[in-house]
Amino acid sequence: MKNTQAPRAHWSSRWAFILVTIGSAVGLGNIWKFPYMTGSNGGSAFVLIYLACIVGIGVPLLMAETMLGRRGQASPVASMRFLADEAGAAGLWQIIGYIGIVGALLILSFYSVVAGWVLEYTWRAAAGFRALPKEAFGEAFGALLADPLRMIAWHTVFMAMCAIVVLGGVTAGIERANKIMMPALFAILLGLLGYGAVAADLPASFRFLFHFDPAAVNRQVLLAAMGHAFFTLSLGMGAIITYGSYLGRDVSIPRTCLYIAGADTLVALLAGLSIFAIVFAQGLEPAAGPGLILQTLPLAFSQMPGGHAVGVLFFVLVVFAAWSSAISLLEPGVTLLTERLAMTRRAAVLVLCLGVWLLGVAVALSFNEWSAFKVFGLGIFDLLDTLTTKMMMPLAGFLIAIFTAWVMKRAHVEQEIGLRGSHFTLWFNVVRYLSPVAIFVIFLNVIGVIG
Ligand code: PHE
Repeated sequence: MKNTQAPRAHWSSRWAFILVTIGSAVGLGNIWKFPYMTGSNGGSAFVLIYLACIVGIGVPLLMAETMLGRRGQASPVASMRFLADEAGAAGLWQIIGYIGIVGALLILSFYSVVAGWVLEYTWRAAAGFRALPKEAFGEAFGALLADPLRMIAWHTVFMAMCAIVVLGGVTAGIERANKIMMPALFAILLGLLGYGAVAADLPASFRFLFHFDPAAVNRQVLLAAMGHAFFTLSLGMGAIITYGSYLGRDVSIPRTCLYIAGADTLVALLAGLSIFAIVFAQGLEPAAGPGLILQTLPLAFSQMPGGHAVGVLFFVLVVFAAWSSAISLLEPGVTLLTERLAMTRRAAVLVLCLGVWLLGVAVALSFNEWSAFKVFGLGIFDLLDTLTTKMMMPLAGFLIAIFTAWVMKRAHVEQEIGLRGSHFTLWFNVVRYLSPVAIFVIFLNVIGVIG
C-alpha cells in the first residue's frame, strides 16, 4: 500500500533533522521547567525518576514516533490514518494525531507567556542587573507577574516571532539559527557551571540532584517526573511525527534519537546543576516555583565578573531555545489545517496564532486579575500544564506504544526503524510491554493526585 499524499519536502541532511529536533526538544522545558520542577518535587527523587523515564519510556517512544512520522509522510492525523489502513486497523487511531495537535496548541499558549517573561528578562539583562539584596530579585519577578499588560505585550511579541518563522516554512530559518545557537547555549551553560564551581555551592547542588532519597518519592513526584520526560522530549504532541515525516529514508532513526535525547538531558542537567549551586550558595528557596531561574540567575549575573554580557547572551539563547521549540508546537496544527481544510499556510498560521494568543492572554491574567479563578483547585496556567503534560502527553504516548508494538505489522516496524536482531527485539519489547505498563501504572495515579 502506498501513501497517496503528495511528495513532501525533506530535511537537507541527517544533521538537519538532528538539529531541528534538538531545537524542538531543548527549550524552556530544560532551562526553566526542569529546575523548578526539581526544586518543587524534592530534588533527586524527581531527577532520578525523570532519568529512568527518559530511558525506559522517552527514548523508545522518541524512536517510535519518528518511525511513525517517516512511514506516514504526512501530518500526524493523516499519517496515523495511513498507518492504520496499512495495518488493517480502525481509522480511530487518528485520535493520536488529534490529541497531539490540540495538546501542542494548549502548551503553546502558556509556553509563549513564559517565553515572554524571558524576553522581558533579556531586556532587563541588557540594562544590566544591579547588585541588590537577594529579596529584590524575587520582588522584581513578582512585579512582572502583577503586570498583565506587560506580560501580554511580550506574549504577543513571541507569538509574532513564531508566526513569522512558521509562515516561511521551517527549514531555512530555524535550521540555520539552531546550528549556531544550540552550541552557544551549551557553551554558556558550561560557563555557568564553572561559575557555580568557583563562586557558588556546586557540591550542595550535586547532592540535591543526585543523592537519592527513596522517602521523597510519592505519586505526585512520579507523575510529575514522567510528564516532564514527555514534555522535554516533545513527545506525544505531533511535533516528532511531523518532523519525522520530513526525514529521509537513509537516516538511522535509533542513532539520531540517541543524540537528541542525550543532548536534551545534558542541557537539563547542566542547567539544574548551575542553578541549584546558586540557590544553595545564596540561601534561596529551591521550591520557589515557576520564577526560580528568573530569581536566581539575575542575582548571579549581578555579581559575577562580566555578568552583564553573560546575562544578555544567556537570555538571548534561552529565547532562541524557546523559539525553536515553539515553532514545533505550531507546525503540526498548520500541517493539519492546510491538509484537511485546504487552507493556505498563511491562513492556517493566522487562525491558530490568534486562538493560541487569546488563550495565552487568559494565562497571563491567571497570575493577577483572574488569580481567584480555579478549576479543580488549579489556576488557568496550572490547569493547562497539568492537562497537557500530565494527561494528554502520557495518553498519547501510551496509544503510540500500543499502536507501534501491537497494531502495526511487526515486519513493517522492523523495516522502518532500521534496528536488527537483538537490538530490535529489545526496543520492540520495551515499547510493547515496559513503556505502556509504566505509563499506565503512573497514569492511574492521576486520579489519586487530582482527587
Ligand atoms: N520539548 C520542549 C521543551 O522542553 C517543549 C515541547 C513539548 C515542544 C512538546 C514540542 C512539543 O521546552
